[in-house]
Amino acid sequence: MPIHEIRHPLIRHKIGLMRRADISTKNFRELAQEVGSILTYEATRDLPLENEQIQGWCGTVQVEKISGKKITVVPILRAGIGMLDGVLSLIPGAKVSAVGIARNEETFQAQTYLEKLVPQIDQRLAMIIDPMLATGGSMIATIDMLKKAGCTEIRALVLVAAPEGIAAVGKAHPDVDIYTASIDQHLDENGYIVPGLGDAGDKIFGTK
Ligand code: PRP
Ligand code: URA
Repeated sequence: MPIHEIRHPLIRHKIGLMRRADISTKNFRELAQEVGSILTYEATRDLPLENEQIQGWCGTVQVEKISGKKITVVPILRAGIGMLDGVLSLIPGAKVSAVGIARNEETFQAQTYLEKLVPQIDQRLAMIIDPMLATGGSMIATIDMLKKAGCTEIRALVLVAAPEGIAAVGKAHPDVDIYTASIDQHLDENGYIVPGLGDAGDKIFGTK
């Protein structure tokens, strides 16, 4: 199934806290990282494992380790940075591919201003992170970029998703699974998610 709404009580609670109009920059930032971490836990549930023999304290012991493709985390700047440490706290060895995309606030068109992908990205599982999936334009542009670079396995982690964005990404890239803390109601006339979180980038960076 391409959309996974994680209904864990901790995530429901934390997203609820993030919706408060009077939330401080500090609290919003901390919660974005924490929810990012829980989404990572869920989005990596099916990673393949392989057995390994190691020397333990009492002799040889068989343990499991993650096998298969290595991971690159792909934060969509700027707001995606707000989830990065939370994601890396669970997968600290992952390389980071930064993608800069800004949404034109009048046309909602996604405009790319940075593409800093890790070498041999085609051999990695890409995990895109961005707090907001609104029209889907920014996510689709990022997936287009990753596929053009040869990525064949891509997952997306977003704090909040609008039905319009889920439908758009699903239509353009049905092979990409989306993990979210909440599927919200709809977009308003300015392309903001309702009830949403407001402008996630501004809240994370304190620019408003
Ligand atoms: C926000 C958000 C997403 C995008 C979602 O970023 O972080 O990247 O908008 O909207 P879409 O689904 O309609 O494309 P924004 O462009 O405001 O930039 P910022 O991260 O620099 O604040
Ligand atoms: N970008 C945001 O930060 N919030 C929205 O609701 C939509 C796009």
